[in-house]
Amino acid sequence: MKGKKALVTGGLGGIGTSICQHLSNEGAEVIATYFRQGDHESAKRWREEQKKNGYNFEIYYVDVADYNSCQKLFEDLGSKSQDIDILINNAGITSDTPFSKMDHIQWESVLHTNLDSLFNMTRPIINNMISRRYGRIINISSINAQKGQYGQTNYSASKAGIHGFTKALALEVASKGITVNTISPGYIATKMVMKIKEEIIEKIVGQIPVGRLGKPEEIARAVCFLASENSGFITGSNLIINGGQYLL
Ligand code: CAA
Ligand code: NAP
Repeated sequence: MKGKKALVTGGLGGIGTSICQHLSNEGAEVIATYFRQGDHESAKRWREEQKKNGYNFEIYYVDVADYNSCQKLFEDLGSKSQDIDILINNAGITSDTPFSKMDHIQWESVLHTNLDSLFNMTRPIINNMISRRYGRIINISSINAQKGQYGQTNYSASKAGIHGFTKALALEVASKGITVNTISPGYIATKMVMKIKEEIIEKIVGQIPVGRLGKPEEIARAVCFLASENSGFITGSNLIINGGQYLL
């Protein structure tokens, strides 16, 4: 991936950090975006930690749920936004509760962050990719898009929406050298999963044939595979990585 520029949303999170590192290991120049509720100091600390490990990432603030914030990101990136080759739409949140108790904010925040973000981040760069006749777009969905999950009507709906977006856009840009794919991770050991009650996690692990949670690097390696120049014939697909928990 030498000479390629990648942008990873949620690049400072569990899976995001590993994606940044793996893309960088493959030679890509990586821009990581962060939210951190505007805590820029904590983002700078992440950047410094990465530097100690030999990674030199550029970091930019963005709220992917907010169209104007994404517009501002691309203004801040200036000409750099015109040569993004690889876009990883990875940022996401949960706000789990049974539907009978779910309030409008829980619904809206999850849909805005997990699904509207794909419009907010992809629309500003797609025409540059089209004019350069090259692009790799990878959207991070979830096992629970297709399986459904108690307490996740909002999350499952948002992540299922990603599949429709991926397939429709893949068709529109296939002839322009751009691929659009989805990865659907199962339960991966990050903050997002670790905030579930311990006894519920134990039950979930019991449903995973491989017998453990996944690791962020097991997703990041797949991202690199799809992001490679050599993967140009794979588009509109969904790569399932869930330890056998739900097979289609
Ligand atoms: N199926 C059927 N019933 C269930 C259930 C399930 N899977 N889970 C809970 N229930 C029932 C309980 O048995 C209980 O029933 P009673 O009231 O009759 O006893 C009732 O629902 C309430 O259960 P809780 O006490 O757990 O309710 P709560 O309000 O405290 O918690 C919850 C609800 C937050 C949804 C909790 O059940 C939970 O955290 N579940 C796990 C959700 C999950 O898997 N989230 C994934 C987050 S990580 C992620 O999303 C990444 C990814 O992509 C994989
Ligand atoms: P995580 O560590 O909580 O990372 C989520 C990332 O999303 C964070 O880096 C966060 O940024 C970013 N984010 C949240 N809201 C944002 C917003 N409004 N604007 C910009 N960025 C925002 O969880 P993760 O497990 O790595 O999740 C990464 C992706 O994988 C998510 O889309 C998630 O749904 C998906 N996924 C996870 C699992 C799993 O089991 N862990 C399974 C399937 C799919 P900051 O840290 O900067 O705030």
